[in-house]
Amino acid sequence: MRILLINGPNLNLLGKRDKSIYGDKTLSEIENIIKKKAKSLGLDVVRFQSNSEGALIDFIQKNSPRASGIIINPGALTHYGLSLRDALVDSKLPVVEVHLSNIFAREKWRAKSVIAPIARGQISGSGWKGYVEALRILVGELKVEK
Ligand code: DQA
Repeated sequence: MRILLINGPNLNLLGKRDKSIYGDKTLSEIENIIKKKAKSLGLDVVRFQSNSEGALIDFIQKNSPRASGIIINPGALTHYGLSLRDALVDSKLPVVEVHLSNIFAREKWRAKSVIAPIARGQISGSGWKGYVEALRILVGELKVEK
């Protein structure tokens, strides 16, 4: 089974962005942790990051037919990315939304997610461990043996 691990705008700069908000791990470090964890569960991970909503949608359209679930941190697209949301719905896959920071404890506009209503779950404020938590939710969803 294959999981798509998707990160949106500006998340390529993890490790350089405000570490007090986003932690000090780079995106590659986080992706490697998830790949390793997923492998131990017999899952394959395909990773993708883009700063462009269209590229994220193209990736989802192309890869979702051969995948079983999606872990996504949509970055700021969380708050207004309606075509990204539609692509996630059209994929018909279980989606878990991740945020490194607690989006409810920051600016008011960050508290609204257009993705959360179509997601199976949302993890916010657990740092990089949120991605591991998301994998755990998907594993439960996919009924993979732990
Ligand atoms: C984020 C939260 C978003 O509001 C922000 O635009 C990001 C990162 C997070 O992981 O905490 O780029 O998704």
